[in-house]
Amino acid sequence: MAIVLAAGQGKRMKSKLYKVLHPVCGKPMVSHVLDAVKEAQSERTVVIVGHGAELVKSRLGDAAEFALQEKQLGTGHAVQQAEALLGQEDGVTIVICGDTPLVQASTLRSMLELHEASGAAATIMSASFDNPAGYGRIIRGEDGTVQRIVEHKDCSAEELLVREINTGTYCFDNRKLFQALSRVTNQNAQGEYYLTDVIGLLKEAGEVVQGYCTEDIAEAIGVNDRVALAEAERHMRERLNRKHLLNGVSIIDPANTYIEASVQIGADTVIYPGTVLRGATVIGEDCVIGPSSELTNAVVHNGATIKYSVVTDSEIGEVSSVGPYAYLRPGSKLGRGCKIGDFVELKNAQLDDGAKVSHLSYVGDAKVGKDVNIGCGAITVNYDGFNKSVTEIGDGAFIGSNVNLIAPVKVGDGAYVVAGTTVTKDVPEGDMAIARERQVNKPGYAEKIRARAKAKKERAGQ
Ligand code: UD1
Ligand code: CA
Repeated sequence: MAIVLAAGQGKRMKSKLYKVLHPVCGKPMVSHVLDAVKEAQSERTVVIVGHGAELVKSRLGDAAEFALQEKQLGTGHAVQQAEALLGQEDGVTIVICGDTPLVQASTLRSMLELHEASGAAATIMSASFDNPAGYGRIIRGEDGTVQRIVEHKDCSAEELLVREINTGTYCFDNRKLFQALSRVTNQNAQGEYYLTDVIGLLKEAGEVVQGYCTEDIAEAIGVNDRVALAEAERHMRERLNRKHLLNGVSIIDPANTYIEASVQIGADTVIYPGTVLRGATVIGEDCVIGPSSELTNAVVHNGATIKYSVVTDSEIGEVSSVGPYAYLRPGSKLGRGCKIGDFVELKNAQLDDGAKVSHLSYVGDAKVGKDVNIGCGAITVNYDGFNKSVTEIGDGAFIGSNVNLIAPVKVGDGAYVVAGTTVTKDVPEGDMAIARERQVNKPGYAEKIRARAKAKKERAGQ
């Protein structure tokens, strides 16, 4: 069994968002914790919710059972809210805080194993911190055994020097946990019912209590403010980047590459610095991403290249190239071997295999056929101030530079739209469309204009 504490508001975050929902590498802290707990054990898991209960529940979905702590009277009181659901069970219960996002399933499992093998009533995960400020301290007796935990605010001068801290993760004998909790009081510096007092009470009752010290200090980080949040983010980022590196992804500068927890990347893909990969982004093999690109919920197929670009809710086909400086807005879909060049914006545009939009274009609400070439500066005029309309361009069509396609409009297969044309009606398959003023040349006129300008300047100078 497991109990995850997630009812606090997190005042020290100074945020409108409830603490446990703050993301670390794109995923709420409490989801990191819950995932680790679920991976470590397959029994019932209860999340204690309070502040933002509905929002926390909706983010976690049906991954857990929930118990409501109406008033946040402390971590001990929070655990008590699970008594109605778990109080009658025999066995071991993991209790963990929703603000320790770096705890790993493997660590929880070895802690569980130690706990079960030793027959202790409680096992505390501890860590040794150079700067233990803010954390509860583990107080050991002369024989080295854990006696109790003292919260930072309740520490004596001597206790403040203790560097072994309580990570807030424990294994308990379930029955003994709830029995001891009923005896916890709120006589302390914060006037709260501390879960940590259970340790002293169990010890006094002659039970065995032990510490399990984590090697990886990052796992012990409890996020109470944004300083700790940034630190947790850095550790998580390093961990995720390392996972991708070991999976065969090249990351040129991991310290400058930001990959969220949910992102998948295939082997032999190279990620250049300044790249941010977010949400449900999935990248295939042999791609080159970055430098300086931001991909959110993007699907990128094998061998594609994206440089200095922003891609959101879009799909990029095999061996296609995007950028530099392209902007793919939601609903853009490129087939195989497409080219989107510099300063091109796409929105809700589907481009079939081999289509090219090489420079300075806007293509929105459009269906573009195979091997279509859209020239420099050509745009779809998809919005008349009231409605959005669709542009369709058939396979093999050629759209010249600086063409305006006033939607709704269709350009047929193989049609040819001459540069500078404003297309206002459909162009049939195979036709050429031209709509622009005929040019008039006036022989020798350039010299006349210059002479006239010069004379004017001289008159003004007198
Ligand atoms: C707690 C521990 C401290 C430990 C630290 C590790 C206690 C009394 N102290 O302190 O020994 O070193 O974690 O990070 O347990 N919560 C509730 N209901 C409440 C109060 C808190 O659900 O009434 C939840 C919070 O949402 C949070 C977790 O419990 O996820 C821990 O609470 P927090 O206030 O952050 O405790 P710390 O002061 O960090
Ligand atoms: Ca905390």
